[in-house]
Amino acid sequence: MEWKKFPKDFIWGVATSAYQIEGAYNEDDRGETIWDRYCSIPGNVLHMDNGNIACDHYHRYKDDIQLMKNMGIKAYRFSVAWSRIFPKGKGKVNQKGLDFYVELVDGLLKAGIEPVITLYHWDLPQALQDIGGWSNPDLPVYFLEYAKVLFEILGGKVKKWITLNEPYCAAFLGNYEGRQAPGNHDFSLALRCAYYMYVGHGMVVDYFKSSGLEGEIGIALNLMGRLPYSSKKKDVYAAKIADGYLNRWFLDPLVYGKYPQDMVTLYESNGVIMPEFDEEHLRLMSLEVDFIGLNYYNDFWVKSSKSRWPLGFVIENPPNLPVNDRGWPVTEQGFKDMLLRLKNEYNIRKIYITENGTSFPDVVTKKGTVEDGNRKDYMQRHISMMQEAIEDGAPVKGYFYWSLYDNFEWSFGYTSRFGIVFVDFESQKRIIKQSGHWYSDVIKNNAVKEETEHE
Ligand code: FCB
Repeated sequence: MEWKKFPKDFIWGVATSAYQIEGAYNEDDRGETIWDRYCSIPGNVLHMDNGNIACDHYHRYKDDIQLMKNMGIKAYRFSVAWSRIFPKGKGKVNQKGLDFYVELVDGLLKAGIEPVITLYHWDLPQALQDIGGWSNPDLPVYFLEYAKVLFEILGGKVKKWITLNEPYCAAFLGNYEGRQAPGNHDFSLALRCAYYMYVGHGMVVDYFKSSGLEGEIGIALNLMGRLPYSSKKKDVYAAKIADGYLNRWFLDPLVYGKYPQDMVTLYESNGVIMPEFDEEHLRLMSLEVDFIGLNYYNDFWVKSSKSRWPLGFVIENPPNLPVNDRGWPVTEQGFKDMLLRLKNEYNIRKIYITENGTSFPDVVTKKGTVEDGNRKDYMQRHISMMQEAIEDGAPVKGYFYWSLYDNFEWSFGYTSRFGIVFVDFESQKRIIKQSGHWYSDVIKNNAVKEETEHE
């Protein structure tokens, strides 16, 4: 094995989100979120799991910081729960909620770990959902008010801000497919939610830039390849639509200030009600961000299918691919392709990998270890591919593994483990997995080990 170095100053981190790890759902005046509500409805989440306790991070954050420090982690991406700051989404600030994040940030800085904050990682205050959620044109204003509170208290200390996490999932999985909170099934509604999320994003970027705050602001998008199942014309077209649905619908307004016309035409001709496409909104959406956060897990293959209005495609992967326990294929080449696409097609000048990871049914051995060679292999493949992309000019400046911990994995509850640290949810014991030790080595050496011919 040979160590292949990364650029100096490359940032090595891990990522989590509030609802998935904090627990303490009813403490210190935290308000109800759409995920609390969604989890309480039978059939939504496996085993009716919820984030009430999760990794109990709200109480254990000091130990969690120490663990990250011991692992050599340099940066920590986490999200703030809007409902801890404004229990009802707006109105009066809840000081106790704010104090938690101030202490967390101070603790991280003291430990030499850079805090990276996501403002919105899907846990909308339920009170805002009750007035229409993200489909309500007032939401962007409330989002800005919430962001301002955090900028005021943590600005200067926190130098990297992410407005939204995966607006595609929040809008479409939450409001069209119903697989996530708030659990709606309405395509037009999902489009409208995605639109106002972007208006909110733009307003926050605008404020951040004009306030002269030190640091960078960006957005985390889940962008992944959508490949045609066959070379048949209709599958090639289906893949283009799938790419428009997942990738271009979010990249184009951000970069070009307009939505992809082929998708607009497709949606309109299917009777979907379009958002207002107001010029000032489009201007805000396309304000230049300092970086794009790429959440990359895997590519999927796409087949034409009339069964799925209004999109006309289904996901179907070729047989015999290596997959994780969610059925996601391992497609590291797609990671490189997406990075180069962001650079070459969209001219993106700075990228952080804000999520990349995989889920396996890990178990604790008799020796008390967790031997997740499969996850280590996934990480090695992706980190090496990222390195190749950097060599080919992709401006990647940091990598955040998803996730530090096994945690509440949305509608899969606690059954899907993504951590490099195992969590026993009964005892809350944390065990660094084999992949976690391997990652510590990568960080320490600022390099990934390459397989060589002499081995
Ligand atoms: C992403 C989410 C993150 C986590 C991973 C596995 O879509 O941003 O919260 O659930 O998937």
